[in-house]
Amino acid sequence: MDLGIRGRTAIVCASSQGLGKGCAQALAEAGVALVINGRHQSLLEQTAQEIRQAWGVAVTPVIADVSTAEGQAALLHACPNPDILINNNAGPPVRNFRELDRKAILDGVTSNMVTPIELIQKVIDSMSTRGFGRIVNITSMSVKMPITGLDLSSGARAGLTAFMAGVARGVADKNVTINNLLPGSFDTVRLRNNLSLAAKRNQVSDTEAAARAMAAIPAKRFGTPAEFGQACAFLCSVHAGFITGQNLLLDGGAYPAAF
Ligand SMILES: NC(=O)c1ccc[n+]([C@@H]2O[C@H](COP(=O)([O-])OP(=O)(O)OC[C@H]3O[C@@H](n4cnc5c(N)ncnc54)[C@H](OP(=O)(O)O)[C@@H]3O)[C@@H](O)[C@H]2O)c1
Repeated sequence: MDLGIRGRTAIVCASSQGLGKGCAQALAEAGVALVINGRHQSLLEQTAQEIRQAWGVAVTPVIADVSTAEGQAALLHACPNPDILINNNAGPPVRNFRELDRKAILDGVTSNMVTPIELIQKVIDSMSTRGFGRIVNITSMSVKMPITGLDLSSGARAGLTAFMAGVARGVADKNVTINNLLPGSFDTVRLRNNLSLAAKRNQVSDTEAAARAMAAIPAKRFGTPAEFGQACAFLCSVHAGFITGQNLLLDGGAYPAAF
């Protein structure tokens, strides 16, 4: 399917690997020029090169911590008026909520709620004026369903979701959409790290921990960043202009509800 966004520009935050990279790749496949981002130079440069070679689009790597004002300024400097913004960031570490001090809680809220709001503030009026904008926030299945040890992730992302529900309706008539993608378990470095912790806690091998996690998902597998990216690219397409303020679960059926 032609997504109708060839020649558009996108900032994809936190995209040197994992879900952000999956989104960047799918947008590149659709012909979108990219700003990609991460904090570590070699990985980011490698991803930029990989995407340029595969799809021939312009890719500007911006090494920056997206949670900081300087990091956000660097992203906007590289692409002052993006047509597409994909908000992504590191997730909070897995912790018993009793162990979170005030700083840890505020850091989690900054990463997963305040940062995307700040970036949206900086791009939304220009998108509205130009009559095209697609904003996708990578949140989590934990918005809908508690996951042990990820209460901070749930809270911060639910805050973002509620915040954006009103904002999305305020720009819908300008052909600017804001949607959230809610990943379940996707095969990324973060998931593998979390599985390793679970393996240690339960005194099993990493392989066994992964097998148990997959067995609990109706699809009996983890998702791939590539399939996550394709869903993201569709939400950024011309065909998705009537979809806004929505929360799309990608979880292989893990969330046990009819609606
Ligand atoms: N994978 C899953 O199953 C899953 C499920 C639910 C929710 N999520 C959420 O989805 C998001 C992405 O997860 P993932 O699995 O793709 O993680 P990942 O594999 O660990 O990749 C994270 C990416 O973000 C970059 N990054 C991290 N912190 C950054 C920062 N402050 N500024 C700029 N770039 C930053 C990393 O590069 P650098 O380290 O070089 O900065 C890397 O490219 C996270 O918020 C995670 O909690 C993931």
